[in-house]
Amino acid sequence: MRAPRFFLSTAIALATLLASGLLVSGCDVTPPAPPPPFMPMATLPQLMHGVVDPAADVLWASVGSIVTKDGVEDFFPRTEEEWILVENAAVMLMESGNLLMIGDRVRDHGEWMTMSQGLIDAGKLALTAAQSRNPDEIFRVGGEIYAACDGCHQRYWVEGADPDGAAPAAR
Ligand code: HEC
Repeated sequence: MRAPRFFLSTAIALATLLASGLLVSGCDVTPPAPPPPFMPMATLPQLMHGVVDPAADVLWASVGSIVTKDGVEDFFPRTEEEWILVENAAVMLMESGNLLMIGDRVRDHGEWMTMSQGLIDAGKLALTAAQSRNPDEIFRVGGEIYAACDGCHQRYWVEGADPDGAAPAAR
């Protein structure tokens, strides 16, 4: 009677496997986990003053030219440390776009989101430029960053659309 007993235990094992398989596939229909609980802390002006503006300033101030008695002199990051500061500023700008897309900072789900994404995209370009140690590209992307700030300010912060803002050319 060895063979039937063997058969029986195999059948039980198979049934158990099938049952656990059913249990596993049963998990597929449980509702998805709730999204992570974002807790936006800073007000929009605080975020602008505390994070966005200082980061943009670092970027804009990192390349340019000055007029000296000997003529026009270009300046740009030269040391590893100086380049890393520009990289960090680009990272802050890039991630700030995400911070504008959460909580009560969101003004609408159309243009606001597009413009926040614009800051992410410009920040990403700045990061690539800094990583490739390319001062000309930093200068060019500085203009794109400025356009991202100004576009949103023109649309959502009317008083902010003033030329005193933070024109890269003036820095
Ligand atoms: C997606 C929209 C958006 C983008 C992008 C954006 N801002 Fe703003 N920013 C605003 C709004 C809206 C205000 C007005 C906030 C208020 O007063 O309620 C503001 C205000 C500010 C302020 C003044 C804060 C105050 O009220 O005192 C500064 C400084 C500023 N932004 C800098 C920047 C810079 C620099 C950039 C780009 C690197 C930028 N912002 C990008 C929407 C944006």
